[in-house]
Amino acid sequence: MPNDQLKEAIEVTNSELVIPPHTNHIGTIFGGRVLELMDMTGAMAAMRFAGEDVVTASMDAVDFKKPIQLGDMIELKAKVIHTARTSMVVKVDLFRLAHADSQKDFSCRGYLVFVAITCDGNPKEVPTLKLVTDDDNKFWAIGERIKQRAKERRIRDADD
Ligand SMILES: CC(C)(COP(=O)(O)OP(=O)(O)OC[C@H]1O[C@@H](n2cnc3c(N)ncnc32)[C@H](O)[C@@H]1OP(=O)(O)O)[C@@H](O)C(=O)NCCC(=O)NCCS
Repeated sequence: MPNDQLKEAIEVTNSELVIPPHTNHIGTIFGGRVLELMDMTGAMAAMRFAGEDVVTASMDAVDFKKPIQLGDMIELKAKVIHTARTSMVVKVDLFRLAHADSQKDFSCRGYLVFVAITCDGNPKEVPTLKLVTDDDNKFWAIGERIKQRAKERRIRDADD
């Protein structure tokens, strides 16, 4: 897909019931399971945007703010917030849903970078994200910083 094509991002939603294989001995969800779900939901948002297969290139730090218990329902919302030549930064928010009502508690947010790939695994161009709202501009700037941090890590690791 050519880079000069402007495209709006759609939000992808994914839901899950927290079951025993995904909880620890004190009955709360494993952090690794949360990261897995964020990765999967983020990948779907990136694939739908790019119209291509994608791989996860990196994940920014995630802070777990509230425990999620066995039997809770969780909801993830993912959206592309930044694009470059072949990469996309995706914001993924995770909410805990209370059983009794429709109240949603924000649990954590992650920013992941996905790269569109050809069937040979080589990076492939993605459309350019169309910015519509003030929020789009705000998150684009966050995406720029995330790409910059990832670049600095790559330079640092190349020196090790
Ligand atoms: C991601 C991957 C395709 C990048 O390939 P590469 O040969 O480094 O390609 P390039 O240097 O041309 O980079 C391609 C794009 O990826 C971005 N990129 C590469 N590594 C990155 C990282 N760690 N974090 C964020 N972006 C990254 C580059 O900035 C570039 O973006 P742009 O084209 O939008 O400017 C390759 O490193 C890979 O396949 N990694 C393994 C992915 C994987 O298996 N993930 C699952 C978990 S292991």
